[in-house]
Amino acid sequence: MINSDHLSPQISSEELMGQFERWLIFPGTILNFGENCLHFASKCIFTCKLQVQIYIKMEKNKVILVTGASSGIGLLIANRLHDAGFTVFGTSRNPEKHRDKVPFKLLSLDVTSDQSIRNCITVLMSEVRTVDVLINNAGGLLAGSVEETALEQAYNQFETNFWGSVKMTKAMLPIMRNQRSGKIIAISSLIGLIGVPFNSYYAASKHALEGFYKSLRLELRPFNIKVSVVEPGFFKTNIDRGAEYGNENITDYENTRKKVFRFFSESLAKSPAPGPVADVVLKIVNEKSPKYNYPVGARTRLLPAIQFFSHNLFENGFLKRAGLE
Ligand SMILES: NC(=O)c1ccc[n+]([C@@H]2O[C@H](COP(=O)([O-])OP(=O)(O)OC[C@H]3O[C@@H](n4cnc5c(N)ncnc54)[C@H](OP(=O)(O)O)[C@@H]3O)[C@@H](O)[C@H]2O)c1
Repeated sequence: MINSDHLSPQISSEELMGQFERWLIFPGTILNFGENCLHFASKCIFTCKLQVQIYIKMEKNKVILVTGASSGIGLLIANRLHDAGFTVFGTSRNPEKHRDKVPFKLLSLDVTSDQSIRNCITVLMSEVRTVDVLINNAGGLLAGSVEETALEQAYNQFETNFWGSVKMTKAMLPIMRNQRSGKIIAISSLIGLIGVPFNSYYAASKHALEGFYKSLRLELRPFNIKVSVVEPGFFKTNIDRGAEYGNENITDYENTRKKVFRFFSESLAKSPAPGPVADVVLKIVNEKSPKYNYPVGARTRLLPAIQFFSHNLFENGFLKRAGLE
């Protein structure tokens, strides 16, 4: 006979609860640990989400100044950046004329006037504390043979396309250097890389920009100021409508001048809207370490490469396409 009293001794209810609690201690600790882990993970996720939100908000709060934002490439760039959520300030020589048509703030600026540049920066800095990106887009076209174009016209081309860009950069540098951050994006041109007849001064002003920004980029590295140039090919804008032409007509140039002008106006008429240029600028703005140059548009990589490989090949190709053979 088995003595059941020996196998199951009588215990009090308190002792029974004590044993039960001891049994529960181990799994309870695991449960507790698991719960703490979950709590910690959810806290981490929340903190990460918050940090990402703050980062996105900081990025979107970036202040961007686009010169020449009343028309063409500059207008599209400013609209694209505004739509992406950035704080955009555009400029125009006649802001009142365009203010109602654009969703971003339009400041008054003539890049050929030192006083206008000073005023523009003063107005901008009264509204914001930092300037994160300067986009030097303002520019115009002077076309004509060298001999038919007055030097005064050539100086004016440089005042706008080269010195205007340089002066805006110089005005912005103390602000960006103090911030120890910033981006300067210059709208150069395919014609800043290749030679084309009857555009010598325009080409020279854009080639000058290339040399300037290529050098400046290295100079500004220690201050975390990134410099890039965009090199568009042909895009449909108002550049031809606002273009200036050589003020003299010399009969010897008549035939070639007509052919080259026709070639350029047909190329511009067939060209697309400058959306791709705005896309490239948005990409540069978002990039942590942008490259130096961004060719954009048809044959903008091919033509400089052909010219680099063989000037003869490039020149013969151009003369053929322009009907000058
Ligand atoms: N279209 C192309 O195929 C092409 C190709 C390569 C490079 N680019 C370059 O792209 C840039 C923009 O040209 P776009 O084609 O867009 O021509 P656009 O439609 O004529 O626009 C030119 C812009 O520059 C501004 N501007 C002109 N002179 C100025 C000055 N003295 N001070 C301040 N702003 C001035 C104009 O503003 P306000 O008149 O309102 O002042 C306008 O907003 C230029 O640098 C041009 O060289 C154009």
